[in-house]
Order: sequence, then C-alpha cells, then structure tokens
Amino acid sequence: MFQFITNLKVYDNIMKDPARFISNLSNVKSDKFQISFAVPAINLEKLAGLFPGKIKAQHVDLNPLGPYTGSIPMESLIAYGINGSLLNHSEKRIQSEIIKDTIKKAETLKFDLIVCCENIKEIKLYSSIGARTIAYEPPELIGGNISVSSAKPEIIREGVKICEKEGSSLLVGAGVKTREDVELSIRLGAQGILIASGITKASDPRSALNSLTLS
Ligand code: G3P
Repeated sequence: MFQFITNLKVYDNIMKDPARFISNLSNVKSDKFQISFAVPAINLEKLAGLFPGKIKAQHVDLNPLGPYTGSIPMESLIAYGINGSLLNHSEKRIQSEIIKDTIKKAETLKFDLIVCCENIKEIKLYSSIGARTIAYEPPELIGGNISVSSAKPEIIREGVKICEKEGSSLLVGAGVKTREDVELSIRLGAQGILIASGITKASDPRSALNSLTLS
C-alpha cells in the first residue's frame, strides 16, 4: 500500500486544536493509501492515544532516555505506540553523522524512519546506508503551488531507481495540491506522498484529503 502522510507542521490553525483537525479527517478511507499524520511534538502522546496507528512524529532524536533536555527519544515514541517519524525535514535539518546513527538505531528498534532528502546526492547517501524510507522534497517547492511531480519528474525517476536498488521506498512531497500531482507521482514510481499545505490550508481539508487519496 502507498503512504499518504500529512505533515501538520505547527501551523497556527492546527495548533488551536490538532485533535479536532485530525478527527475531521480520521475516517477518510482509501483503498490505495495508508493515511497518517506527522504531528507537533507537544501533541504526540495525546494524539497517539486518540488516533492509534495514524500518528507519526515530525522529528526524532538520537539520544536514548536520560538527561537530554528537549529531546524526543525514539524509545518514548515507541512506548506511546508511534511507529514512525520524519527525520531531517528541510525545516529541521540535522547533521549527517546523526542521521546515519539514527538510521542504525531505527533498524535495531524496528522503527519506521522517513529520512527527508533535498537532492539525489542525499537520496544516494542515505539509501546506501540503510534508510528504508526516503522522502524527496525539493525545499524551494515546499509550501508553493508547483508540485514536485511536475517540476522534478526526472529526479523522482532517478530517485526511485536508486531506492529500488538499495531495497528502499521513495516518498515525494512539496507543492502537492491536486489529484493529478498525486497520480503523476505514483506513475513516476513513488511509493507515497508527503503533503502539508494542500491539506492544512485547504478550505475543506476533508474533501481535499478525499480527493487526493483517490477515494
Ligand atoms: O513535509 C511535507 C511538506 O514539507 C510539504 O509541504 O506545503 O508543500 O505540501 P507542502
């Protein structure tokens, strides 16, 4: 099944009542996509309890439980029933060495890490060291109306080939607003979609999600 991850970021309209926002979308069903939500760190525990199996983190830290102020340990996410997280999003970039060690840790803990990459070089690097899921998001398209699938089809194709060779999956995101953007991404070989403003800023987020997940 393909993945469809809505990244709620920390948009003002979301932070007012994230549970209500997800609740409005939580019974949208899709035969094609597994629908989930990457939610703000301060809401993780509550939302994981309310929407089991649908919640991902937007970031996870490498350090374990202990004296690590401000951290989001993978161990805590797992304890809350959260099975995955984005890592290295363009809005939360981290050092390569930390990414490498977090990939290893995720493999050991069977945690679904989605390593965000801005270009082919990063896709090559992180898939070759064992990232199971890569998300390609060209930073200049994030939040806009030109989609990754229409602006960067050749990079998606190349990324898909690299990931297939390494046994990884490629998700794509940035600027996805229409059903055509989603269909083209899938035709190009992507295994899923990462989206934010196309849902969070839609006048009717529920019908946007319905239409984009081809329900
Ligand atoms: O993580 C998804 C996000 O960065 C894409 O944002 O608003 O272009 O769908 P947007």
